[in-house]
Amino acid sequence: MTTKNLQDLLQEGVEGRHVLVRSDFNVPLNDAGEITDAGRINASLPTIQALVEGGARVILMAHLGRPKGEVNPKFSLAPVAEALSEALDQYVALAGDVVGEDAHERANGLNDGDVLLLENVRFDPRETSKDEAERGEFADQLVALTAENGAFVSDGFGVVHRAQASVYDVAQRLPHYAGKLVEKEIDVLKAVVEEPKRPYTVVLGGAKVSDKLGVIQALAEKADHVIIGGGMCYTFLASKGIDVQESLLQEEQIESCKKLLETYGDKIVLPVDLVAAEKFDAQADNKVVAIDAIPEGWMSLDVGPETVETFKKVLSESKTIFWNGPMGVFEFEAFSKGTRGLAEGIIESTSNGAFSVVGGGDSAAAVRSLGLDEAGFSHISTGGGASLEFLEGKDLPGVKVLES
Ligand code: 3PG
Repeated sequence: MTTKNLQDLLQEGVEGRHVLVRSDFNVPLNDAGEITDAGRINASLPTIQALVEGGARVILMAHLGRPKGEVNPKFSLAPVAEALSEALDQYVALAGDVVGEDAHERANGLNDGDVLLLENVRFDPRETSKDEAERGEFADQLVALTAENGAFVSDGFGVVHRAQASVYDVAQRLPHYAGKLVEKEIDVLKAVVEEPKRPYTVVLGGAKVSDKLGVIQALAEKADHVIIGGGMCYTFLASKGIDVQESLLQEEQIESCKKLLETYGDKIVLPVDLVAAEKFDAQADNKVVAIDAIPEGWMSLDVGPETVETFKKVLSESKTIFWNGPMGVFEFEAFSKGTRGLAEGIIESTSNGAFSVVGGGDSAAAVRSLGLDEAGFSHISTGGGASLEFLEGKDLPGVKVLES
């Protein structure tokens, strides 16, 4: 099985051709609708720039958030079009719709080297439909934006685990190529899956256990250590009979966590102390406590200093590290030390020769917002769910479809 890449497309020639590109511009926005972390936009530039230089008429497709098939200005890609125009130093027009009149007019009016961004593909319910025929119909309409001789470049690594119209079905209808970002991400992650240097440590954080139980199970089989922090650790602690008070808890997952601990207990590393807070607030009264000593009615919002040391020790002995998900509410200064300490541990271990990958929008955004040195990690992936599924060894539909 071979997958053609951007280089192949450029060699075939793109001048004057309409090239549909699926990017992942699902960036975090603040309440004022401003982009707070442009990592995914920056990571998408090399592919777009190469196409522009080759004289292609570039049509970008992307989603923002989960607007559930309805047009919702809150999820408009307008801030992305603006950021792209600045980053590329050329005007990037935003179509007023996805496959409607405006998109068609603008696509037809593109000159060689122009870039057009379609509105959020998830404004159309067919994008994420489970019905192949519905998705296919939408994909046909996206493809119709290209004239004869169109091509498709898949460059939204963060979304290749989704069998969605602009990721999967469009690829079936046009000559398809892996963009630079997708290619690079896969190369790096393949090395981690196929021959991780041991010990291999996976660090998982973030809020929901239920989203990641399958991942924990799959990775516990492959890795030597699984460090668990962040919102998901409280369900694990509760499954050991600890009263986590008002901390985030998914009661329906307690049994599953118990089973995971029974099976992989020797690999799973849990916090030993926590930072408890009176309430969920940046200024909340807080203190470091043992895991079984959260004051009544309080909640834990971060892992404690002893935990950071425990995690760092495991990391210092590791040769491969994959990290997904913050250790606490890092957006609040008082509860950011766990995530910062963990990240510093990974950076230190990397400087001593370990290979480290940060997976996911949230963790990558945490690294940047905490002012940590991005160059201190071997690779910062733009994909959260996608990198986790890749590491689990699952086939990713958006990658598979590029093989021919
Ligand atoms: C992400 O943010 O992980 C990707 O953009 C995919 O988004 P999704 O989980 O809404 O499909």
